[in-house]
Amino acid sequence: MVLRAMIAGCGGYLPERRLSNDELAALHGLDTSDTWIRERTGIRYRHMAAPGETASDMGAAAAREALAMAGVGAAEVDAILVATSTPDSAFPATAVRIQAKIGANGGFAFDLAAACTGFVYALGIADSLIRTGQARNVLVIGTEVYSRILDWTDRGTCVLFGDGAGAVLVRAGEAAGTTADRGILSCHMHSDGRFGDILQIEGGAGSTGGAGLLRMAGKEVFRHAVTKLAAVVDEALTANGLGHEDVRWLVPHQANLRIIEAMGRKLHLPTERVVVTVDRHANTSAASIPLALAEARRDGRIGAGDLVVMEAIGGGLTWGAALARF
Ligand code: COA
Repeated sequence: MVLRAMIAGCGGYLPERRLSNDELAALHGLDTSDTWIRERTGIRYRHMAAPGETASDMGAAAAREALAMAGVGAAEVDAILVATSTPDSAFPATAVRIQAKIGANGGFAFDLAAACTGFVYALGIADSLIRTGQARNVLVIGTEVYSRILDWTDRGTCVLFGDGAGAVLVRAGEAAGTTADRGILSCHMHSDGRFGDILQIEGGAGSTGGAGLLRMAGKEVFRHAVTKLAAVVDEALTANGLGHEDVRWLVPHQANLRIIEAMGRKLHLPTERVVVTVDRHANTSAASIPLALAEARRDGRIGAGDLVVMEAIGGGLTWGAALARF
């Protein structure tokens, strides 16, 4: 028998305030339209954090739901890994703040910066911690308040993002060591710093300048997304000796419906087996995959034994994929 990291619980949290494309355009006096945004991205609306609401508040709410679904108490959590580009502060880490908020007072907690790929990276680290016996219960959280780092005068970026949090509780379990096992089969992480400038937050803690706002060369990011995501999904399937016919669900990072549909076609999956939230959440960066997982677990779409592919790309550039059987 071998140790495997099982995704035992999922949770999600969205701020109460929901903003449609038209409301957003009117609020910020933007020269855009609902039609332009929907046709280019698939986004219809997004949620916005309340003035006092932070990444740790939202992450804690998502974490509580994941713990409840898994039937694991906060005191049993050995590690909390938080993927975020919008931490409450440089330190204490948002993960440590969540640790206090949920009453998980043992173990350790830290943040990880890999932009929209952050959840896949954090899942990869959780998988390693569990396989090596260093932790038994790991909370993996993606939580973002992008509304605080957007340039509301830049219509090319501010219409694309939303706020929210998602979490999974990953738990050690014994398995036979085959691809029929439940749990995370493998995670694949990549980065290439040569493309750092095409998607970045200019400024922030420790910076020599910049207002701390998001900048993106959208067309270039799009081009990298299509090729790099296709390659890393192939890599994940090949590493496990699996083919696209083995995949039951695609749970992609939710940046743009056109990229999501291209990945669905690549895996030969009918649209009803691709979990889509970008229309209602927009791009919630590191939170988008766990939010989508929570939705599809709650409504029963993803069931026991289903093989799920997750993939993401983001600032860095960073990109990655994870294969897990529920
Ligand atoms: N409303 C109306 N027009 C807009 C607009 C908006 N919100 N945003 C940009 N435009 C305009 C541009 O100014 C440009 O006008 P011009 O031709 O007069 O200069 C025109 O639309 C085309 O802009 P472009 O950036 O070339 O559009 P696009 O087809 O590439 O779509 C994105 C833009 C951002 C939707 C697209 O590039 C994209 O989704 N990129 C990937 C983004 C992504 O996934 N990022 C996150 C990765 S984690």
